[in-house]
Amino acid sequence: MKIGVLTSGGDAPGMNAAIRAVVRQADALGHETWGIHRGYQGLLEGDMAPLPSRACANILQRGGTILQTARCPEFHDPIFRAKAAANLKDTGIEAIVVIGGDGSFRAAEVLQREHGVACAGIPGTIDNDLAGTERTLGFDTALNTAVEAIDRIRDTASSHGRLFLIEVMGRSSGMLAVHTALACGAEAVLYPESPEDSYEGLVSQLNASWLRGKRSSIVVVAEGDTAGRAMAVGERLKRDHPLDLRVVVLGHVQRGGSPSAMDRIWGSRWGAEAVRRLDRGESGFYLGEVAGALVAQPISRVLEPQPVPPGDLGRLVTTLAR
Ligand code: F6P
Repeated sequence: MKIGVLTSGGDAPGMNAAIRAVVRQADALGHETWGIHRGYQGLLEGDMAPLPSRACANILQRGGTILQTARCPEFHDPIFRAKAAANLKDTGIEAIVVIGGDGSFRAAEVLQREHGVACAGIPGTIDNDLAGTERTLGFDTALNTAVEAIDRIRDTASSHGRLFLIEVMGRSSGMLAVHTALACGAEAVLYPESPEDSYEGLVSQLNASWLRGKRSSIVVVAEGDTAGRAMAVGERLKRDHPLDLRVVVLGHVQRGGSPSAMDRIWGSRWGAEAVRRLDRGESGFYLGEVAGALVAQPISRVLEPQPVPPGDLGRLVTTLAR
């Protein structure tokens, strides 16, 4: 069988581990792998080529994706999807492994439903916002990157007695923000799903800690649906709080870098499992991790609401910031 593999949406550390595992597990089972370049964009344009085992040497530890990635709005149009399915048929690719986030899985779900293309999904996004899995590739690395950066900022925050608002990625999910805040001992975290995500709550909390004698603080702000949200909060806060304030948007630094050991391990496990299942004739699933175990979910689960960060973690940030 010819298996296609693509990475789609925002790149995430660990994607290369998954690509390598797909290629090498396929090789071990006697299948051929084709790399589809630039995600669904490359699929539309027929930009794909055989991806031999040797081409995956020394990629396990590399960030980004050797296949490159793209966001592809054309894929919402059925005419373009039909073209993509035709390209796969012409090349003789019978199944594809899609490494990406919810948008990428939605596209796979519709491609399978409309055109019978056998699809397998591997969660790859730093946002960790997919139903049915507690982990996505890149989250662990991005979390560690953010924490390392904030540890550095804390040195200068305490030297100057300043308040830092630090914006982290995650799009509409606060998962990265909450975990970052807890890991770096932040004063507070603002994230979209929190009932306590209010400006007034933040001001009263900062005032209380000021009265307790705290003279430097870190507040983690989830970007939410509008990147740059920390800037807007900072502008208001300058008027309402005495501390000298700075805003840092961590941005794409969170997406790069060598994957953590866990992202390499799960990329390898998921890549191999996707191929083993396709080999057994299964399709229409994506892989995940629940309570430490590798699980497979029907691809239709991607349509379910995204998981919310555990509320107790957000509250713990506040409790421990005394
Ligand atoms: O989905 C991953 C992500 O990094 C989000 O956290 C962020 O909002 C978005 O991608 C940024 O996208 P782009 O790289 O296209 O600006």
